[in-house]
Amino acid sequence: MSELKPYDDNQLKVIVTQEQIEEKIIELGKKISEDYAGQELVMIGVLRGSTYFLIDLTRKMNIPFAIDFISISQYSEQASSTGVVRITKDLDVSISDKQVLIVEDIVDTGLSLGYLLRNLKTRNPAGLKVCTLLNVEARRIVEVPVDYKGFDIPNIFVVGYGLDYNEKYRNLQLIAELKRPK
Ligand code: IMP
Ligand code: MG
Repeated sequence: MSELKPYDDNQLKVIVTQEQIEEKIIELGKKISEDYAGQELVMIGVLRGSTYFLIDLTRKMNIPFAIDFISISQYSEQASSTGVVRITKDLDVSISDKQVLIVEDIVDTGLSLGYLLRNLKTRNPAGLKVCTLLNVEARRIVEVPVDYKGFDIPNIFVVGYGLDYNEKYRNLQLIAELKRPK
């Protein structure tokens, strides 16, 4: 879906173009391939937003790796502000003694990533790093390491390239701000 046509009353405004995403993914794929050459790497996609990014990123890599997915959900608005989240789909592979790269769509408050990092660390990976397509520094509540980053964006609500609004707009080939009608 490359056409920027809202499904509803919301307005869409391009923030990152398809070309910018493609260029950045080539750059990240090259960097990750260099950094992890000769190591046993597991790429972990955080469902569901990171799927488009993860798949395209791996296509630009030229080293072997394993892929797995994890899904987490917040208990409630209140609980999410304390970083209490629940794993709704766990990994299928062991990450013990492996190099792990978590692939995220967006790091916003950092609460879900903070939880994920704490949880995965207990499984004794050889290394644990983070790659995110989007980073919203202005929204950070907990400090989390971001080792590979696509784009820094301001505090706006975005959709596309995996990111959704009520499950819509994931298949946009670019990142757009979703503006609610005034
Ligand atoms: P956190 O606030 O860093 O814990 O982000 C939690 C999750 O909320 C992210 O992984 C996304 O799935 C989702 N999210 C945060 N900001 C946005 C946004 O602007 N659009 C769509 N989803 C978002
Ligand atoms: Mg997410």
